[in-house]
Amino acid sequence: MKKLINRNSVVFLLVSFLCSLVHAQTSKKDMEQMIDQQFKLAASQYKILEKNVPDSMMPKTVNKNTGKVESSNTKWWCSGFFPGSLLYIYEHTNDQDVLKIAQKRLAIQEKEKHYTGNHDLGFMMYCSFGNAYRLFKKPADKATIDTAAASLTTRYRPQIKSIQSWNKNQNFNCPVIIDNMMNLELLLWVSQNGGDQRFREVAINHANSTLANHYRPDHSAFHVLDYTLETGKFIGKNHQGFNDASAWARGQAWGFYGFTMMYRFVKDEKYLQQARDIAQFLLNHPNMPTDKIPYWDFNAPNIPNALRDASAASIIASGLLELSRYTKGKESSNYVDAAKQIIVKLASDEYLAKPGDNGGFLLKHGVGFFNANSEVDQPLTYGDYYFLEAMHRYKEWILK
Ligand code: GLY
Repeated sequence: MKKLINRNSVVFLLVSFLCSLVHAQTSKKDMEQMIDQQFKLAASQYKILEKNVPDSMMPKTVNKNTGKVESSNTKWWCSGFFPGSLLYIYEHTNDQDVLKIAQKRLAIQEKEKHYTGNHDLGFMMYCSFGNAYRLFKKPADKATIDTAAASLTTRYRPQIKSIQSWNKNQNFNCPVIIDNMMNLELLLWVSQNGGDQRFREVAINHANSTLANHYRPDHSAFHVLDYTLETGKFIGKNHQGFNDASAWARGQAWGFYGFTMMYRFVKDEKYLQQARDIAQFLLNHPNMPTDKIPYWDFNAPNIPNALRDASAASIIASGLLELSRYTKGKESSNYVDAAKQIIVKLASDEYLAKPGDNGGFLLKHGVGFFNANSEVDQPLTYGDYYFLEAMHRYKEWILK
């Protein structure tokens, strides 16, 4: 009898193991096919988008009333996402027409390496030229990135060990916003690649100030800290969130991605712990929907009828895939599973535009600035960019 049980258990375990292997292989194959298909679709969509944007401008969103694509000039914080997305698409399709469009758009973006009007240089110049240099290693592109990093550091304020995000305005004295964690990648990369070592120091100081001041005990972050330079005192606010006590979803996503990226460059355990803590906040929050596409604010008043933000979901998916590389076992595979779930959901009809629709953008249902009724439930360039990046990472890191 004992022998029989033992034999049955072994057979059962073996069959289960083989089934899970087949399942893993099948879903691996499915993901591979799905991602390849997404990049092909993205190539045709972005050729449409290109036609909808004047040569000297970059795409922004689709106007709700007219259905037409709205453009911005190259100083807009999102200007780097279009060329960056085109480069990811080219990388995965080898479509030479997409590359030509990317080069044309990089050419109009290059002048912004001197821009010092706000903190967004990382988004503008690293998502664009960082990808160009990663792919083609042209010295001129590296020089562009180096100059952009120098421009960004002009906004460093040693009194508060932080980079000032926006200039003083009617709402803020010296605002530092959580989004700025993303721009530190530009500084760290330049320092790591032969550039000025002070840029790394600025990035570390900024991240440490953010860790100390921006985060609440539950590991959610304010959107804005408004500092008084003379005293170093600050007030936490939520410019783009629902209210000052709420957790604006994209802000949480920026911080999560930012601290994961900090660990990549600096290998300081406190950044890794911060990224894990934020992942816990995001993935286990009672208001996180089961499909893991967050509401635009975790404390939006009309949950479960509040709008979802596809852009926050894309950023979280991409960040989770990076965090999975710095963690082990079940914890790591949970991050991959969550990222996969988000990618698959975003690639479904609910979020992905039908071919030819959406002005050429990929994703629908992004929430730009809810309180200002600006870009609400619309396509957003950064939603597309981090969706493409998440699929790129999934393909390179998980499927290979
Ligand atoms: N302020 C940049 C954003 O909307 O995420």
